[in-house]
Amino acid sequence: MKAVIIHQFGGPEQLKYEDVPAPEPQAGEALVKIYATSVNPIDWKVRSGQHGDYQLPLILGWDVSGTIEKVGSGVTTFKTGDAVYGRPDVSRNGTYAEYVVVKVSELALKPEKADYKTAASIPLAGLTAWQGIFDHGQLQQGQKILIHGGSGGVGTFAIQFAKWKKAYVATTSSEANIQFLKDLGADEVIDYNKDKFEDLLKDFDVVYDTIGGETQKRSVEVLKPGGILVSTVGIADEEILKEKNIKGIPYMAQSTPEQLNIIGGLLNEGKIQPIITKIYPLNAIAEAHKVSEEGHVRGKIVIQVVQDDE
Ligand SMILES: NC(=O)c1ccc[n+]([C@@H]2O[C@H](COP(=O)([O-])OP(=O)(O)OC[C@H]3O[C@@H](n4cnc5c(N)ncnc54)[C@H](OP(=O)(O)O)[C@@H]3O)[C@@H](O)[C@H]2O)c1
Repeated sequence: MKAVIIHQFGGPEQLKYEDVPAPEPQAGEALVKIYATSVNPIDWKVRSGQHGDYQLPLILGWDVSGTIEKVGSGVTTFKTGDAVYGRPDVSRNGTYAEYVVVKVSELALKPEKADYKTAASIPLAGLTAWQGIFDHGQLQQGQKILIHGGSGGVGTFAIQFAKWKKAYVATTSSEANIQFLKDLGADEVIDYNKDKFEDLLKDFDVVYDTIGGETQKRSVEVLKPGGILVSTVGIADEEILKEKNIKGIPYMAQSTPEQLNIIGGLLNEGKIQPIITKIYPLNAIAEAHKVSEEGHVRGKIVIQVVQDDE
């Protein structure tokens, strides 16, 4: 099969398009024929050697949509030909390939109304947003949430989920994304280059932070006592939070197919729509990494592996 492999950590030029043997599914696993995958910041953080403890050579990529080609022993939940999507285990070889072996406990049926490209844009970013604002942030109807990085892969899902929950949503972005985020449903969009969000927002229940650094520090001022600061990038200063009686929650998103079923249901009902900004073929992933690494992608970058006609 064709795959994009790194043999050394480093820049985008380390992504090599090569022929490798297709993997074989073992007990409890399935071989998935990949139709599409997507690029997430973890991909280039791992590629550059700044994230995690990975063995080389390595196939990156942790979103998949496709069809079940073959199942391993004991698998009864999926059969050959099923259209699926998921976020496979990030410690194993990934989805920048024509096939991947995935534990079936990490797969869900692809939402009927999503084509393969749309489905591939959901798992990692969608699950991260869902778990961040609901499992960790405990966001309730009528509460106020500030979502940093609203126009990113995670942020675009978080805004839509929070609006579906009927929360009040403020978000931060550059000027170029203000109207886009209002159209996506945000109640208030603050240009982070022009205004200080902490001067404009008060008594929020939850801050969802996908940016970190100074943005995270200043976020404390927006929260009410007892408020929750959830972060995808770690909590830098626990002390400030304690002083203000704020609960800080760093987390790593988990692969949870039950939540993919809920998200897929919302998509089928037309309540959410993933935002895909650019689509690249498998042999142009290096270009996709360069764009993602610049830090200003709107929504998701998808990698199309098979031309699907949906
Ligand atoms: N812990 C986990 O399990 C987990 C899971 C997923 C992601 N993450 C991490 O979460 C972070 C976000 O992921 P992502 O996929 O959403 O990234 P992304 O799609 O690359 O985010 C890009 C977006 O960030 C916005 N942005 C850049 N600087 C900003 C700032 N100072 N304030 C507000 N927005 C800003 C950009 O908007 P403008 O163009 O308008 O500036 C752009 O739309 C990454 O560091 C990623 O590694 C962690």
